Amino acid sequence: MAKNYLNHIDGKWVPSIAGKTFKDTNPADWNEVIGIFPESGPEDIERAVQAAENAYESWRLTPPPTRGEIILKAGLLLKQNKERLARLMTREMGKVLKETRGDVQEAIDMAYYVAGEGRRLFGQTTTSELKNKFAMSVRMPVGVCGLITPWNFPVAIPSWKVFPALICGNTLVFKPAEDTPASASEFVEILRQAGLPPGVLNLVHGGPKTGEALVHHPRFRLISFTGSCEVGRLVGEHCGRTLKRCSLEMGGKNAQIVMADADLNLALEGAVWGAFGTTGQRCTATSRVYIERKVYDSFCRALVRRAKNIHIGNGLKPRTEMGPLINESQRERVHSYVSSGIEEGAHLECGGGFAQGAGLKRGYFYQPTVFTHVDPKMKIIREEIFGPVVCLMPVKDVEDAIRQVNDTAYGLSTSIYSRDVNHAMRAIRDLEAGITYVNGPTIGAEVHLPFGGVKNTGNGHREAGQTALDIFSEWKSVFIDYSGKLQKAQIDAD
Ligand code: UN1
Repeated sequence: MAKNYLNHIDGKWVPSIAGKTFKDTNPADWNEVIGIFPESGPEDIERAVQAAENAYESWRLTPPPTRGEIILKAGLLLKQNKERLARLMTREMGKVLKETRGDVQEAIDMAYYVAGEGRRLFGQTTTSELKNKFAMSVRMPVGVCGLITPWNFPVAIPSWKVFPALICGNTLVFKPAEDTPASASEFVEILRQAGLPPGVLNLVHGGPKTGEALVHHPRFRLISFTGSCEVGRLVGEHCGRTLKRCSLEMGGKNAQIVMADADLNLALEGAVWGAFGTTGQRCTATSRVYIERKVYDSFCRALVRRAKNIHIGNGLKPRTEMGPLINESQRERVHSYVSSGIEEGAHLECGGGFAQGAGLKRGYFYQPTVFTHVDPKMKIIREEIFGPVVCLMPVKDVEDAIRQVNDTAYGLSTSIYSRDVNHAMRAIRDLEAGITYVNGPTIGAEVHLPFGGVKNTGNGHREAGQTALDIFSEWKSVFIDYSGKLQKAQIDAD
């Protein structure tokens, strides 16, 4: 019997008001139902916003170290429950157990990191241009925030938003992706067990309509969204019109550069992990590799050999290296990109089809796919595919590589493999991206550094690190005049 899950509003687990539901299934075996979830409408969002508004005054005034303690406790509970959550996540969205453990670990890391912020949340103290006057800046919460998260990191990405938002004193309405509602429910339950007061974090399940209702609710002060560019644009447009704060974290078309002087085995390991880890379903996934001409042929051959040998299957099995895609429409989408690559004349070196075989019949499995002879105008090299598809291109030198990497609408993650410090420094300076790795793949960001990108990847914000606090707090400048007289700035100063 599939488990019935509920929304979480004002500290209670409740069904949706209209009583509608949807089914969540295992992408590695679509006969397995993970759970039945409430399909929430505008009336559920309204209820959740009211709960968040009611909780705000008291949460705003709760000392940040106390807020931090609850977040720390949530981190400890996540650690205790890591294996159970990782197994549920693999069943729910398909990535292999090692990676779902990493996903939960990323949330644990974020909890530990953010908990300490309760005793920091630093502002600045500074001088005044006038005598007997003191100046400083302090962080204030934003208010009631709406959070929308994707399915590829079902616990980690919610933790990037929820923990920083909470430490800053905001109250929240959280709508997770409809493909991973069980992981999100477990995450919220852990925060409840950690002692988060009712109404501070409200969970509403549902699909795109629920997301739309959330974005259109007039009383949010901020919307934080991670997902596709298509949807992010709509969210940003609406927030622009209604003058809401808005942080968007969207796509990538991430590239790895391989110079001839690199440790080529290491570069190969990096490309395989970057392109096929999480079945290519990361916004940081490697989808383009630019290889110095001298080593191009041998590198391509080695990468194709590796891609052909990747063991595909159910992520719970220890031998599995790559799980399924998230759902049918995603598999269709990946396949249509692959077909467009073939039609446009790229060479398909391996993969390019649904993966067949024992244990793969009832899942959305797709073969690791490698293209060469790719023209810079082709769709497969310009658009984000979000699947196990990688394009390999030869380049003349480091300048050529950097120019080609930058020839894209996105700018999330980049990488260079080289033993030459001059090449590495050039890449660090000139690659247009929010993240550059030297001798590491395009995936693997750590929580205490800013995460986000330039161009169409985002709208200028950075999650994680200290910069996450800037999304979820408002600055206030404070001037304290203890001169006992009226002092006029810019006029009385000498
Ligand atoms: C994402 O791809 O949506 O750097 C997030 C990484 C992970 C986070 C990825 N730590 O690949």
